Amino acid sequence: MGRQRLGVNIDHVATVRNARGSSYPDPLRAALLAERAGADGITAHLREDRRHIADGDIDALMRELNLPLNLELAATAEMQAIALRHRPHAVCIVPERREEITTEAGLDVVGHKDRLAEFIKPLTDAGSRVSLFVGADLQQIRCSAEIGAAVVELHTGSYCDAHFEGRGGDRDRELERLCEAACLAASLGLEVHAGHGLTYGTVAPIAVIPEIVELNIGHFLVGEAIFLGLEQAISRMRHLMDEARSETAG
Ligand code: PXP
Repeated sequence: MGRQRLGVNIDHVATVRNARGSSYPDPLRAALLAERAGADGITAHLREDRRHIADGDIDALMRELNLPLNLELAATAEMQAIALRHRPHAVCIVPERREEITTEAGLDVVGHKDRLAEFIKPLTDAGSRVSLFVGADLQQIRCSAEIGAAVVELHTGSYCDAHFEGRGGDRDRELERLCEAACLAASLGLEVHAGHGLTYGTVAPIAVIPEIVELNIGHFLVGEAIFLGLEQAISRMRHLMDEARSETAG
């Protein structure tokens, strides 16, 4: 099994900065530290309400970062124009409004098929790898492939919630659904990523799904950085991912 990439989401460094309207802590500094700690990419979500990452953060990341940037955004005209101006390595389309959300809290690709197909084409033509953030729903995955997405990112929130609520049966079922979804997506030629809510305690069963080539993790790592420092928090996650994959291979 190949090495799984770790994308570090730095949104919540900006959340702390914005809580006081200050200029620190700086998300770019966090991204550069993440690179030193073994991150393979940086993810930042430019929300329509700019509640954490701001436009200037994206400018700075595009200018200074050596790692690939995965820009998360909603499928709006404003966000499409920003992505086309920057042409980041990857663009991950996420739901921000309730009507774009399925019960699994991923994008409703089936319900917005034509609009999403139109939305992603110019981004792909501009050279960004377009990813759709979807629940472990086979119909959504088939539809993502049909409209020309390069990647699907599987939403791991339900699996993580079941783990923390101690609902063992549900957690195992959620894990099975993620495995089936990853398998279908890969068989359709989609690259498979996963993320949302992952922690040291929940990462291993996701890290060993062979089709999943990248995890995107943010909130837990930024929280853990308070206790360990960001580099150490990321290194430990990297180690847990590698350990899980090597144990399965062995
Ligand atoms: N992947 C996607 C598409 C997301 O929207 C998020 C949250 O911004 C994450 C991964 C990371 O989730 P978390 O911050 O809970 O680790």
